[in-house]
Amino acid sequence: MEMPEEIFDKVVKIAQSRGFVFNASSIYGGLRSSYDYGPLGVLLKNNIEKMWWKSISNLEVEIYPIDTAIIQSSDVWKASGHVGEFTDPMVDHKPTGERFRADQVPDHIKKEDLTEPRQFNLMFQTNIGPVENENSTVYLRPETAQGIFVNFENVLRTMRAKIPFGIGNIGKSFRNEITPGQFIFRTREFEQMEIEFFCDESEEDKWFDYWIENRLNWYKNLGIPENKLRIREHDESELAHYAKKTSDIEFEYPWGWGELEGIANRGNYDLNAHQESSGKDLRYFDPNSDNKFTPSVIEPAGGLTRTLFAVLLSLYEEEELEKEVRTLFKFKFELAPIQIGILPLSKKEELIEVCNSIKSELGPYFRTEIDVTQSIGKRYRRQDEIGTPYCVTVDFDTLEDKAVTVRDRDSMSQEGNKGMALCPFHGEKTASMSFTDEDNLFHCFGCKEGGDIYKYIQLINNVEFQESVEIAAEKYGFNLTYTDSKFESDQKNLIGSMSKIHNFFINNMKEGKSSESIDYLKSRDLDGTDIKEFRIGYAEKDEKSTNEFFKKNNLTKTDLKNLGLLSERGNFLFKNRIIFPITNLRNETVGFGGRALDDFGPKYINTAESSIYRKNRSLYFTSEFLSDLKKKKFVILVEGYFDVIAFNKLGFNNVASPSGTALTVQQINLLSRYTKEIYLCFDNDEAGDTATKRVLEIKNNQPSEINFFKLNLPKEFKDISELYESGTSDINKIINEKEDLVEFCINKIIDTDNTKKTFQEFKQISSFLSPLEKDLAIGYLSKKIGITKEVLINELNYQSDNEPLSQNENSSRQIKHIETFQDILIAEIIKQDFNIEEELDFLINLNLEFKTLIDELKANKNNNEFEKYQNISYSDTQLKESVARLYIYYSDIKIENLIKKMDESNDLTLLEDLEDLKKKIEFYQNTL
Ligand code: GAP
Repeated sequence: MEMPEEIFDKVVKIAQSRGFVFNASSIYGGLRSSYDYGPLGVLLKNNIEKMWWKSISNLEVEIYPIDTAIIQSSDVWKASGHVGEFTDPMVDHKPTGERFRADQVPDHIKKEDLTEPRQFNLMFQTNIGPVENENSTVYLRPETAQGIFVNFENVLRTMRAKIPFGIGNIGKSFRNEITPGQFIFRTREFEQMEIEFFCDESEEDKWFDYWIENRLNWYKNLGIPENKLRIREHDESELAHYAKKTSDIEFEYPWGWGELEGIANRGNYDLNAHQESSGKDLRYFDPNSDNKFTPSVIEPAGGLTRTLFAVLLSLYEEEELEKEVRTLFKFKFELAPIQIGILPLSKKEELIEVCNSIKSELGPYFRTEIDVTQSIGKRYRRQDEIGTPYCVTVDFDTLEDKAVTVRDRDSMSQEGNKGMALCPFHGEKTASMSFTDEDNLFHCFGCKEGGDIYKYIQLINNVEFQESVEIAAEKYGFNLTYTDSKFESDQKNLIGSMSKIHNFFINNMKEGKSSESIDYLKSRDLDGTDIKEFRIGYAEKDEKSTNEFFKKNNLTKTDLKNLGLLSERGNFLFKNRIIFPITNLRNETVGFGGRALDDFGPKYINTAESSIYRKNRSLYFTSEFLSDLKKKKFVILVEGYFDVIAFNKLGFNNVASPSGTALTVQQINLLSRYTKEIYLCFDNDEAGDTATKRVLEIKNNQPSEINFFKLNLPKEFKDISELYESGTSDINKIINEKEDLVEFCINKIIDTDNTKKTFQEFKQISSFLSPLEKDLAIGYLSKKIGITKEVLINELNYQSDNEPLSQNENSSRQIKHIETFQDILIAEIIKQDFNIEEELDFLINLNLEFKTLIDELKANKNNNEFEKYQNISYSDTQLKESVARLYIYYSDIKIENLIKKMDESNDLTLLEDLEDLKKKIEFYQNTL
């Protein structure tokens, strides 16, 4: 059995010789403990990063991505405590002058040769701008976390985030470590992957445990063996200055257990510190309780480069063969830097040509490499050593029989046509599906379907993951036992109740409780068979029998609230409405959409948010959605319930609707698991076009590459349901003539009489595009308006050089003005000895922060602050302007909060307040 230290040396050697990691500045002799990542290292690092983002993008809680600057204002590091506290005790070795961390002095050094420990700040300090002085001092960030805290309010506001939620950040951090070492384990420049998860204080422990389990599973999923991982709780003396509690996920390195990731409960330390220091309100406003509070934070903080090292160490293996020892990294397929090596048996041109064509076919889906140099045996060894799971070998027979040999890295088995089969997922005459017996993996080189045994069962039987496991278990005679967590059993209960309520609505419809609803559906061209097929129900006008049903089924008010079926005031939401069931992908009802049959309330309402119905990630579709989507490989998105049904009637079940809300990134993410193409068919009017253009703004805010198209309905139809009702049904033509989304958006802005305006609007469109998309878009616009690409590019660059103030700059100026207006108003209030008239009182009450400030001043009439205000001089006109500006500014904020509240609660009584505020804004705008 090999000594672990030897493994360390071997892994470092392979990492350096095969192009994973190089010594930094190597042609100048290297820089101690500084490393560059080579091609394979970058690929591996990218894959770990992708797996991290992927693992947090589909959780039951939202994690928003962010990418923050390395250099932040030094105020950030003062407030966070890093300037004062981020230190290590350090000792010097008197004979040699070498410096060590006090707790990491090598054993051979005598204590008496060491100086007394001194504190040493670990941050790298530098200066910005040409003048070096105190004000230009900045620090390279020692952690990515603070970038998240200082953006808490930005994310909260722009993403309308609701607690609990997290923000994830990946990037470089810098620490002037006294004793870096053990290769890339501890370096001065490294990459971190951090999440700050914001929650209510009462739930800190629950989320702390949740994140430990989640993160530990993530490391296991990377392929790190379970016995190489453990959790270790910090004792009191180890806790960082911000932490209430911390546990580390540790990995067993060749030298012993060491940290891989820290999971800390940071309480509200950081938000409070930044709040105090910046004076900005970083509290969370809870619309349900009308309360503001500073959330608690659970922080899973991992090291990307350290994880890469742990992956290399734990997946390295050696195997004794007859004449040699084979070394390999057993990366799983998703993680491997190169997934498929393509090896021609010889350098002959005909074989290279075949390799090139295989590469161009596989390239878009897998990371591939053509490996030509050296003997085939040596090339297999090299591919093993860089962890390539499969090699496709092209020999002279390939030219005749079009067959290749697929070699499996782990078993070294080579499958020719034996490992190929006719693919059941697309019609074909020659075998194009390869499979491996050992790993139970399959891949079709024709239709590109691939995955493990469960994926195969899912596709063949058209079932979801859980059922695929059940089918496999049954086939091989295993008994499955299910253990539900409390969360899962609560979810099941809610879904059970929802299903009962849905059946109750279906029965109301069946029993003909409202002839009006049946007549209405008839007018939309839907008959009894359709009502049955689409499981449409009816909620009665008179609540009596609905309440009796709830009573009989022991459904309390709390149950109904938890199901999102009550309004803010506690009333049942659905009365005299046609009911459409919103289901999850298992076809379980999780919410309802209701179409009003009278003029009471809005035309359509939805179930409120609940733990089984997350609006921003749910869609309305019918029961055949998933199976049709898998067949057709694209999804159509429409605006409403009737549009979904209309498409179904026209033979397309692969259609969904964001039901009342604008399409969200989360919904795109969900669909991306099943399709790479989305066709938008929103209403044929301005609002529909706006919703379509909005998709362009968000489509690149999620990781998957999805192609979006616009379906153009003939002008005379407002939407697809009108088209269906008219009896016209040349739907295939509409689908075949789909328009690329970017091109659609460009066509909308082209104004041949006003090129300047077209440029301005194009610039906005292009800001949402990736560099490649931008280039294609410029090419398209150039063709359309007959101006060369070069001129367009120059014009765009010219415009950005001469751009007006950015929104941020504008808003910070606006805030400065607002502060001046506040000061003038406060000076006036003090002058009037706090006898505040009604209109001013209303104004002050619009903003909690401003009101608190005035209440505090009133309570401490003699404090020094008074003098500041008494010295302000202002005219009557300035006073009037200040009142008007503040009214407009605070009303705007209040309106935003009210809309948010209405969105969440469906409480339409708030509309009245909203209208009042709008009137106030209009009134004061006229006074300016
Ligand atoms: N925001 C909290 C924080 O930064 P940390 O435990 O100091 O906590 C988190 O760092 C992770 O970053 C560590 O678990 C480790 O994986 C990685 N890390 C920290 N210092 C490092 C260094 N000098 N070199 C490489 N990785 C490091």
